[in-house]
Amino acid sequence: MACYALIPAAGGGSRMGAGRPKQYLPLAGRPLIRHALVTLCSVPAIERVYVVLAPDDESWPGFDELSAKLHVLRCGGATRAESVANGLRAMADVRDDDWVLVHDAARACLTVEHVETLIREVGADPVGGLLAVPVADTLKREVDGRIGATVARDKLWQAQTPQMFRHGLLSQALAAARDVTDEAGAVEALGLQPKLVAADATNLKVTYPLDLHLAEWILANRK
Ligand code: CTP
Ligand code: MG
Repeated sequence: MACYALIPAAGGGSRMGAGRPKQYLPLAGRPLIRHALVTLCSVPAIERVYVVLAPDDESWPGFDELSAKLHVLRCGGATRAESVANGLRAMADVRDDDWVLVHDAARACLTVEHVETLIREVGADPVGGLLAVPVADTLKREVDGRIGATVARDKLWQAQTPQMFRHGLLSQALAAARDVTDEAGAVEALGLQPKLVAADATNLKVTYPLDLHLAEWILANRK
């Protein structure tokens, strides 16, 4: 079975408030998206790395020098789930039981070790799985600005990416449940239980301006 990566990168970055998509903001001297692309292209087990761009994206820098594994698909949709579903459909020569690792363009601090741990832990799984971290904080559910309830954090995890599923199963899951915020959510809606693979907080999603500084610090302190 082959392994492919699919990177949805058709978002507008509204919470970043930069006036342009966050995937093209500079991070450690390079466009943010380039970091995850370099990592995924460096994983020997991954044969091709697909990037899903918005059809009207005029900022994509090309990155032709990066790797022959890189393939650009201009079929992003209105939601992340739609971008992923469109990308799955546009991938060429893929079999139902091939693996697809879906990874947010915005998770720039992903390492080859993160990816290889996921592939090792999920590669023989019948359902698939994802990187995640156990919740550390005490959680409160709000009602009108006040605490309505404390939610026990025991057994709660924060989902990250990559999320690794077979092409056929994931396509079927996303076709049935489009209002999900990650691939695991779509697969869960089929009654299946994806495997949680422990990662760490350095695999953060750059969402707000502060996250750019955190990501920059993480990248600088790794070298
Ligand atoms: N994404 C996508 N297509 C969309 C929306 C999001 O491909 N219609 C991608 C983003 O480009 C990003 C990933 O999904 O790589 C995770 O989404 P998120 O962090 O929410 O990014 P944005 O949607 O761009 O940001 P925001 O929600 O703040 O607008
Ligand atoms: Mg979004």
